[in-house]
Amino acid sequence: MENININGNLVLGIDIGGTGIKAALVNIETGKLVSDRVRIKTPNPATPKKVLKVIDNIIKELQWNGSIGCGFPGVIKNGVVKTAANLSKKWIGVNLSEKLEQFTAGNCSVINDADAAGLAEVKFGPGKECKMCDGEVLLMITLGTGIGSALFVDGKLIPNTELGHIEINGKDAEARSANSVREKKKLSWKKWSKKVNKYLTTLENLLSPDIIIIGGGVSKHSNKFFKYLYLQSKVKPASMGNTAGIVGAALSSLAFIN
Ligand code: BGC
Repeated sequence: MENININGNLVLGIDIGGTGIKAALVNIETGKLVSDRVRIKTPNPATPKKVLKVIDNIIKELQWNGSIGCGFPGVIKNGVVKTAANLSKKWIGVNLSEKLEQFTAGNCSVINDADAAGLAEVKFGPGKECKMCDGEVLLMITLGTGIGSALFVDGKLIPNTELGHIEINGKDAEARSANSVREKKKLSWKKWSKKVNKYLTTLENLLSPDIIIIGGGVSKHSNKFFKYLYLQSKVKPASMGNTAGIVGAALSSLAFIN
């Protein structure tokens, strides 16, 4: 297979989610997608074997043989999956970076999915406006199937913060206020926002962020729920929507060498 990455700035970004696996070729200098965005439903059960088969098919379809950056919804250390809250537990201990290397001649990097989305929003979204100095704290929270978090101090990522799993009223925060809970329980925007507000206030009390960016597919409905959020920090919707995870995964090839 020919490597079409002539300029060295194209990376295949893959975003493995609890609901969908999304991918596209990304120009990591501009943050723009340079191929169609592919979206395949996450297999059920989402075992490593089944998910890797989907990824193999995507790579073949895009005829890609260059670098890959992949976001995964769990803690990632040196390319190895350490937790998998919303996918099969068989993922725990899998070296995803090595698995991806079987499919390509390029380098492969793996990053937590929310950290990936955060990297993209910091580089190309509202995070661009941040000073990135004097200890500025930027918190990105993704409200999707689960809740993901990405924490930046002076623009530097502190990876794997997993703030979606703090306890609120004796319950895992993501089990109370993820967007999937709103959908499953058919909560009104107002009712759901109350839970989100309590969650974000708790984080605010712990971290005093200067800015909170809300991501995940639901961020495109910010006009429906931001009016119910009462926070000290500046709150902004993510600007890249569902592509942040793909673009940030591709950017991880710059951030880490796994
Ligand atoms: C996982 C996180 C992930 C988040 C969003 C949580 O359940 O523990 O690692 O970032 O879901 O996908």
